[in-house]
Amino acid sequence: MSYKKTIRPKGTLLAALDVGSSKTSCFIGRIIDDKGTFEVVGVGHHPSKGIKNGSVTDLDAAEAVIRKTVHAAENMAADIMKGYPLREVVVNVSGMHARSFGHSVDVDIGSHEITDNDVRRALAKAQEREAKENLELIHTIPTLYRVDGQDGIVDPRGMFAEKMQVDINLVTCDAVALRNMASCIERSHLDISALCVGAYASGLSSLVDDEIDLGATVIDIGGGVTSFAIFHSGFMIYCDSIPLGGKNITSDIAKGLTISLEDAERLKILYGKAMSSQNDDGEMIEVPRLGEDERGKPNHIPRSFLISIIQPRIEEILEMVRARLVDSGLKDIVGRRVVLTGGSSQISGMCKLTEHVLDKQARIGKPIRLTGIPDAVSGASFSTVAGLLTYAAEHVDEMPAEIMASVAPESIIERIKLWLKDNW
Ligand SMILES: Nc1ncnc2c1ncn2[C@@H]1O[C@H](COP(=O)(O)OP(=O)(O)OP(=O)(O)O)[C@@H](O)[C@H]1O
Ligand SMILES: [Mg+2]
Repeated sequence: MSYKKTIRPKGTLLAALDVGSSKTSCFIGRIIDDKGTFEVVGVGHHPSKGIKNGSVTDLDAAEAVIRKTVHAAENMAADIMKGYPLREVVVNVSGMHARSFGHSVDVDIGSHEITDNDVRRALAKAQEREAKENLELIHTIPTLYRVDGQDGIVDPRGMFAEKMQVDINLVTCDAVALRNMASCIERSHLDISALCVGAYASGLSSLVDDEIDLGATVIDIGGGVTSFAIFHSGFMIYCDSIPLGGKNITSDIAKGLTISLEDAERLKILYGKAMSSQNDDGEMIEVPRLGEDERGKPNHIPRSFLISIIQPRIEEILEMVRARLVDSGLKDIVGRRVVLTGGSSQISGMCKLTEHVLDKQARIGKPIRLTGIPDAVSGASFSTVAGLLTYAAEHVDEMPAEIMASVAPESIIERIKLWLKDNW
C-alpha cells in the first residue's frame, strides 16, 4: 500500500499538543528516517484544568496548563531548538466534537488523463455537501478510487478515463468548541499548524502497517471520552466517540465506597480490574475513610467488591462502542482486530473484557513510531500526542483540499498557514 506519504524530510522538527480531559501533553519530535520515525527531543505533560469531556470550560485555567506543558517540552529541547520558542503545534480535536461522513463522488474526466486537479474537484464536491455554518472541516480523506468501474485504485492520477468515482471520509468539528480550544492555544502564543481528530492520531501511532491496511479499530479510552477510529486499506474510514471514560469509573468508585476522588483514583490504578476472577474473592484491600476524623482508621473490603463497581461501567462503555460500530454500517468490513489505547486501556483485564463484549481480538496499543522516548511518557496515555506528530509529517494533504487547491504548491507550510488564515 502507498498510504504513507512522507512529505516532511529527515531532520524536520515538529511539535504536537494534546489537550485532553485528564492531562495536557506536548511532544517535540525530529524525523530521523524515511519511514516517518521520530526521535522525541522534548516532552511536557500536566494534569489538565478547565477541560471537561474534551471541551474547554475555563479558558484561563486551560491556557495556564498549556503554557506550562509547552515550556517543559521547550526546555527539554532547548539545545536542539537553540533557545527559540515553539511557534506552531499540531493539535488534537476531541472526538466529542467530531463527526465522520462517508461520501461517494463522481467526476467526468472525458477520456483524458486524470490530473491532480480532477482529484481536487472530487474532494471539493464532497466538501460542499458538508459545508455548514457551525461546522469546520477537519479531514478530507479519499479512501477509494474507482476508474470507469474498476475498483481498488490506489492513485488514479495519470490514468485515462471517462469517469472517476471517489469514496471520501469527511470529518467535521463543532466550530464553537474548536474556537474555544484555538483561543487557549493562541493566547499561549502558538499557531495551530494542523488539526487532527484524537482517535485518528492514536491509530497512526499505535497501529502497525498491516492493521492499517487489513482493517482494525482503535479505541482510545481516555479520561472523559472514549473515541474510536476505523482503519482500512491504508486509511481512516470512520470515527466516532462517546462521552464516558476513566473519570466515570473513578467517580463510581468514590460514590460506591464513599471515599474521595483522589483515593478512588489511587485504588483504581492499584487494584482495579476490568473483570473479576476467582482469585479476587479472598483478597482484601485497604480503603481510607472519608473525613479527617476518621483518617487512620482504615476499612477493609474484598477486592472483588471494587471490581464489581468497575466492571459494569467498562461494559457500558464497550457496549456503547459496539452500538456505534453497528450504526456506522461498517461492521462487516471492519474486521476482528481491535487495538485499545488511551490511559484507561491500562486497567488490567481490559483486553479480555473487550474481546468478550465486542467479539473481536484485542491488544493494547502504545506509540510505536518513536525513539528516545522517556519511559514515563511511552505508554498508552500518550498515543494521541505521538500520533499527532505522524499526522503532521505525513498526512497534511488530508486537510480540506479546496483551499489548498487554490494555493501555489511551493510549500506545504505556507499552504497550511493560508488555510488557517482563511478559516480562523
Ligand atoms: N495505570 C492505569 N490504570 C488505570 N487507569 C489509568 C492508568 N493510567 C491512567 N489511567 C486513567 O486514564 C485516564 C486518562 O487517560 P488519558 O490520559 O488517555 O486521558 P485524556 O487524553 O487526558 O482524556 P480524553 O482523551 O478523554 O480527553 C484517567 O481516567 C486515569 O484514571
Ligand atoms: Mg485523550
